[in-house]
Parts: sequence; structure tokens; C-alpha cells
Amino acid sequence: MENNQLAAQFLLRKDICFLNFGSFGACPKPVFERYQQYQLELEQEPVQFITATGVAYLKNARMALADFLYCNADDLVYVANPSYAVNIVAKNLHLNAGDEILTTNLEYGACDRTWKYYCKKMGAHYVRQPIGLPLTTKAQFVEDFFKGYTNKTKMVFISHLTSSTGLRLPVEDICKRAKELGLLTFVDGAHAPAQVPLNLSTLQADIYTGACHKWMMTPKGSSFLYVNKAQQHWMDPLVISWGYESSSPSHSQFLDYHQTQGTRDFSPFLCIPKAIQFMEDNDWHRVSANCRKMVMDNAPRFTQLMGATPLAPLHEDFIAQLYSIPINSKDPVALYRHLFDHYKIEVPVMVHDDKVFIRYSIQAFNTQADLDRLYVALEEILRERKDLLG
Ligand SMILES: Cc1ncc(COP(=O)(O)O)c(C=O)c1O
Repeated sequence: MENNQLAAQFLLRKDICFLNFGSFGACPKPVFERYQQYQLELEQEPVQFITATGVAYLKNARMALADFLYCNADDLVYVANPSYAVNIVAKNLHLNAGDEILTTNLEYGACDRTWKYYCKKMGAHYVRQPIGLPLTTKAQFVEDFFKGYTNKTKMVFISHLTSSTGLRLPVEDICKRAKELGLLTFVDGAHAPAQVPLNLSTLQADIYTGACHKWMMTPKGSSFLYVNKAQQHWMDPLVISWGYESSSPSHSQFLDYHQTQGTRDFSPFLCIPKAIQFMEDNDWHRVSANCRKMVMDNAPRFTQLMGATPLAPLHEDFIAQLYSIPINSKDPVALYRHLFDHYKIEVPVMVHDDKVFIRYSIQAFNTQADLDRLYVALEEILRERKDLLG
């Protein structure tokens, strides 16, 4: 199917030029319909669904996700979002005073905040190692990153794809080096599943979290936490419930603890097999490759328009379906609102430390016309609204 045919598969408003798939994803119709079927089934017989049939569906969905991620289904639990997963890990790590978490200065704000909170509480340090931009090579990145390593470093925490800068980071090399140094590794892969190839067996991160409701296109609130078997024993749940001292324990305490979390609607997780099928039915490898090409083909004219230095070479090592352009804006919030209200373009304007970026995401439903519309809008704003962009 071509992009205009795939666009018809999505529920997104037709009057909006939607260039922000990255923030919250968007569900295709067949996946959303499956979601509503599960919710209906739940409401028709809540007891059976929550205690029996739904539990079986959940196991099935976990197995499908494990196949997709190339890992063991017993090493995966569902969480609502990556923030939740980061909180589980940070709370359980039992940091001592002086311990260090080594990370980059490119991480997602909510995760930074979680780590800062727990580090402050325990007298530990969250080391945001400055990464020189533009990125040059993977080897240089690894070298820059490990300059922050000391004998106090306890864990490496790093994004697979960064949020405001939209960069794909060489987490394979980082995990390998961290292992040689005897460090625990935790990869924040919020944007990775279905945007970049992901094989948790070969990556060998100790801990990995990813969102399914972004690039896998499941309903909101479906994410996962993967923990290597060797680390599962210290991973308590945030919510203690029936899985603790379970009256019918399964073969895995990790699953019991994390999957039994009180009454909740777990329909979003159940849609994972349908979302995987949707991608298979629509030749998603090709769709994704086309999207990456559109991202890269357009990147130079946007950086030129903004007079900006690209954040990384235009190469699959660093760029996938997100592209961030550094901009000068005195009022990023007003710029975002103006793009939406005046031009009906949904595109994030993101502030990271003291820098501002505009980030476009390209997904199956986007066409060249969307990026042309953004380009023309930015040209006009540059010309006429120096208070917003200049
Ligand atoms: C790098 C990164 N980590 C984590 C998240 C997860 O965010 P949340 O838990 O707020 O859904 C995001 C969301 O965009 C992200 O970009």
C-alpha cells in the first residue's frame, strides 16, 4: 500500500498536518477496533475477563511481543509507559551515597527527573555526561560518553533514540563497553520498537524499556519492561498486590509481582499481536525504509532554512524516523501554538537545556506535501514573525 492508502487506515484528523507521531503514536483502525472489542468483552463479563480469559490473552500478547523483540517472554512485563519502568528500576536500585548513574545530557525530561529524585534521596549522583554535537561517529560517541565513567559508576542509563534531539544512539556499542567495565546497563528504548531494528538477545542490555504505543501503534498505555533473568530478583513492583505471597504462584516471581497490579484495563497490551500483524500485512520494513528516506531527503533544506548545523551526519547510524532541527526562538510555546492554530500543523517545538528544536516525525501516513507545508509555514514565520522565529 502507498502512503495515501495507508493514511486511510489511521483515525487522525484529516485537516491536521500531523508531524508528531513521536510523542504519542497513533493507532491504525484495525488495531483500534481490536482494542474496542477487548474493552467490550471486558465490560460484558468483567470477572471472567479480569481473572481468566484476559489473563490468557495477556500471556499470548507477552509471547508475541517477546518474539518481536527476540527475548524470552518470562523476562518481559507490561507497564503503562517508560516513565513507570524507569521508576521501578530507580526505586529498586538501592543506591548508596556517592554512587553514580552515568547518562548523557540528551535524555528525556521525565526520566532525568526520576533519576534526579532518587539520586538526591540517596546522596548519589546523576552524571549527565555532555555529548558533543554534532555527532560524528559511533566510536567518538562511545569515547565521549565513557569520559563520565568513574569507579563510582553503578549503572549506565541511555536512550536508544533521544526525544528532543531525535537521534539514534549507538546503544549496542555502549552496552558492550559497559559490560567490559562490569556496569549494569539500562536502555530507554521508548522510541525504538518498530522504528529501528531491535533484538534484545544480541543487545544484551540488563534492562530495557520500550513503548508499544509509539511506533508499534498500539493503544496508549502499553509499554514494557525487560529485565535480564540475573537482575530480576531485586526488581520489586511499585504497587504491591496479589502477586506478593501469591496464593497461586506461577513459575516466575518477577511475572507475579509485576503483572498483578490491582484492577486495571489491560486491553492496550492485548492489542500487541494485532499491531504486529498489521505491520506484517503492510510490509512495514518497506514502509519504514520509505519514511527514513523522506526524513533524510528533506533534512538538508530544513537545516539550511534555519541556518542550523545538523545534529548528526545523515546516516542510518544516527537518524531514523525523527528529525530535529536546532532553531532560534524566543518563545517556543507561542511558536508551537502558532504552527497549530494558524497552519494546522502538529509539530513539537522542544526546549532542551538552553536549546530549542523543532522535530518532525515521519510515519506511514505522511507524504512529501506534509513536509512542504511545514517548510512554507516556517519560511513565512521567519519572514513575518521575528518574535517567534529568527
Ligand atoms: C526518550 C524517551 N524516553 C521515555 C519516554 C516516555 O515517556 P512517558 O513515560 O512520559 O510516556 C519518551 C516519550 O516520548 C521518550 O522520548
